[in-house]
Amino acid sequence: MEQKKVVLAFSGGLDTSVAIPFLKEKEGAEVITVTLDVGGPVNPELLREKSLKYGAIKHYAIDAKEEFAREYVFQAIKANALYEGKYPVISSLSRPLIAKYLMEIAKKEGANILAHACTGKGNDQVRLDVTIKALAGDIKDLKVVSPPRDFGLTREWEIDYGKQRGIEVVSKESPYSIDENLFGRSIECGQIEYPEKEPPTDAFEWTVPPEEAPDKPEYVTITFEKGEPVALNGERLSGSELLTKLNEIAGAHGVGRIDHIEDRLVGIKSREVYEAPAATVLIEAHHDLEKLVLTRHEVLFKPLIDAKWVEMVYNGLWVEPLMGSLNAFINETQKRVNGTVKVKLYKGSYIVVGRSSPNSLYSYDLATYNIDSSFDQTAARGFIELWGLPSIVAAQVKEKQEQERKK
Ligand code: ARG
Repeated sequence: MEQKKVVLAFSGGLDTSVAIPFLKEKEGAEVITVTLDVGGPVNPELLREKSLKYGAIKHYAIDAKEEFAREYVFQAIKANALYEGKYPVISSLSRPLIAKYLMEIAKKEGANILAHACTGKGNDQVRLDVTIKALAGDIKDLKVVSPPRDFGLTREWEIDYGKQRGIEVVSKESPYSIDENLFGRSIECGQIEYPEKEPPTDAFEWTVPPEEAPDKPEYVTITFEKGEPVALNGERLSGSELLTKLNEIAGAHGVGRIDHIEDRLVGIKSREVYEAPAATVLIEAHHDLEKLVLTRHEVLFKPLIDAKWVEMVYNGLWVEPLMGSLNAFINETQKRVNGTVKVKLYKGSYIVVGRSSPNSLYSYDLATYNIDSSFDQTAARGFIELWGLPSIVAAQVKEKQEQERKK
């Protein structure tokens, strides 16, 4: 019989470390680990060392930062993606990319078991499992497992089990569950689980408290081409460079803290805290530029598509065919979203204070209240007459009916 193989998404934390010996024993399989760098705090050498020490036969370290920035984060910016009006889908965006690489490696290695260590209470398991299964192609008897979810492992049990197998556990672990990438930092657990309490200051790492931010505002300009940010303060940068730099600049002004009551796909309401300086500024700037270059009809219609886009991505359906259609619409509208936006950062606030575009539909001549405008004000009277006609007729009918009732 051929040797069974598992491909495991490995972060080096307790869950995924313990998963290596656990899966070897439970599945009777060899374990291959994969770590994707999407801009989080990964140390590839240390992770490789840990993975092999804990019993994996092979480790893959993949730098996916630029792919993540261009194919995932930039599409979210074009969709002005804010789940429930607030969350820039930081973690939701990285899961389909992780799943894609797990699947590629599984095919290359002839593995039919894929593993991660997501909890059964969250969204990440849905995003990974759905994408993995959709990309499985002709792999036979594909299985996706998460030891903590599928075998009900508790933290205490894992610590004990790990100790017996030489897995050293950090004695003073952070009380938070953190997920980081180029688009932001998701923070859960600890005191954050009490929604009535202000998040503790030690939850934040990328942003200063707004009250401690510099007393002087700072301006940044962002240049967009086809809806994608390509330059910061006039300097052309790669996607990951631009996001990294803007995270630093805006974070230093206390911009990008998000405190959110969120509806998870699995039906749970949770309190989530995020730091997303670049995401916050870029979405605001991008949305503003759209208003300059899109027609009124486009400006009012696109949010319907954007809302569907972010809901699909949050809910783990990156691979669903509808996403292709939504993306086609969004990309079509972005052809004219070229230009530069100036944002003022000051003590947690981020205000767009200027924008320009070769495709601007703004006409000073039409908009000005100066007397020499070319707008024909006499045309307004007739327009109002017809525009209000249905509503005026309805009001008259109502009035007449009330009079008759009184008689
Ligand atoms: N609530 C967010 C989401 O579902 C963040 C998840 C963070 N994931 C984590 N493993 N800590 O997208």
